[in-house]
Amino acid sequence: MSSSAQASQPYKANPKQTVLTFLITLTIFSLVAYFTFFPLRPSLLLRRLHRKLPKPFYRLFGRISHALQPLLVHFSAPTDLAVAIRSFSDYSFAQQAALDAKWRSFERMGKRHRRLGQKLGWRAKLESVEGKLEANSRVTDELAALGMERARKEGVPLGLGMRSRFARQDGRVVEVLKHFVRDWSAEGKSERDALFPPILEALEKEFPKRDGAEELDVLVPGCGLARLAYEIASLGFSVEANDFSHFMNLASSLIFNRTQSINQHTIHPYLHSFSHHRSIENMLRPISFPDVVPPKGIDLHFEPGDFLKLFPEKETHSAVVTLFFIDTASNLCDYLETIWRVLKPGGIWINEGPLLYYGNPGMALPLEDVIRLAELMGFVIEDRRTLNDSKYTADDEGMYSFAYHCEFWVARKPVNSLKPPPPTSSNASPSSAATPSQ
Ligand SMILES: C[S@@+](CC[C@H](N)C(=O)[O-])C[C@H]1O[C@@H](n2cnc3c(N)ncnc32)[C@H](O)[C@@H]1O
Repeated sequence: MSSSAQASQPYKANPKQTVLTFLITLTIFSLVAYFTFFPLRPSLLLRRLHRKLPKPFYRLFGRISHALQPLLVHFSAPTDLAVAIRSFSDYSFAQQAALDAKWRSFERMGKRHRRLGQKLGWRAKLESVEGKLEANSRVTDELAALGMERARKEGVPLGLGMRSRFARQDGRVVEVLKHFVRDWSAEGKSERDALFPPILEALEKEFPKRDGAEELDVLVPGCGLARLAYEIASLGFSVEANDFSHFMNLASSLIFNRTQSINQHTIHPYLHSFSHHRSIENMLRPISFPDVVPPKGIDLHFEPGDFLKLFPEKETHSAVVTLFFIDTASNLCDYLETIWRVLKPGGIWINEGPLLYYGNPGMALPLEDVIRLAELMGFVIEDRRTLNDSKYTADDEGMYSFAYHCEFWVARKPVNSLKPPPPTSSNASPSSAATPSQ
């Protein structure tokens, strides 16, 4: 064939070459796009752009999910109560599985090392952990039974198929066992003594007369196992204790409704971790509770549920007490607005705790900004100090210790301030809070 004939033939692309060219172009394009929008060291302008561009979408998404919430609730099974029941009733099974892994690790060691372990009584130690797990499960079984009773009474659906069958939160069961120690055992007294007195003293100072002439309602949101709420009620206040966790509420119910004698229950709360123990005896030591049986006639009422939804009425309480609570908010402004709303004019909000933010809240503010936010909402901070070395469900006999430097404050809703000032004024006066003590 002549060369002119060859030239007149239409060009036929080699499919392999086409794909290759396409892939190379796509790669180059993607790389250029990636390094333009996500450079290794993005410029400030680009970072701002990244932040700003998706903003309308976040807002839209927020609005849509807010609007759909009532609908979504029906699909968000299993309920917290179902999860709590499942977790309590499966406690023994879940812990046994963790212990089985310990057995397997031991058996995987060489014969000579296992013999050394034998001399240290390692097998006997694992067996004694097993025995103590059984003791713990007597309490967790009782909590599961209480949960079943509540579910039946409230018509809460439990048989939600596969999802509820596998929805277990074993860590929260362990947390509850540790809370029994913190709130209701003689061993927890040192933790309580570091935290409760400033709160109780502030209430007594503010309301010296508690003769029933004036109704003194105190709200304790996020009350956990409600020992603080009980101590406040013991001073002669009428107390509403609120928590939305069924793990906590069932545990409180065990204390307030199913306990007749001091130290009726015994658990081994430190056996869930093998770390930081000086001896196996320390790890397995029993803790009995409660150190006090709440009398039946005490003026303490439980309001299980979300603090933000349960108290829509205005000016119902003389005081609100939050202990290790405000940092659980996904939007702290909502918490503060709710506290403001329920407080009577002249009422006080007492807070104590760290700022251990959970999840990804709207604003994870540092302490000074939390105080400033409270002031912007109209609160007047009247007392403020730092409480050093507050422990939280710690093992005092272990080799590890962690402590918070909690902030305590008393904030007042002024009598003449019916409405909080607009929270937008950027030129508002500087913080009037007292300097925290060292
Ligand atoms: C860190 S614990 C503190 C418990 C207790 N105040 C104490 O000091 O032992 C926080 C508690 O707040 C509860 N909680 C969190 N958000 C809540 C909400 N929106 N309504 C009611 N309780 C809530 C949790 O279930 C948990 O029991």
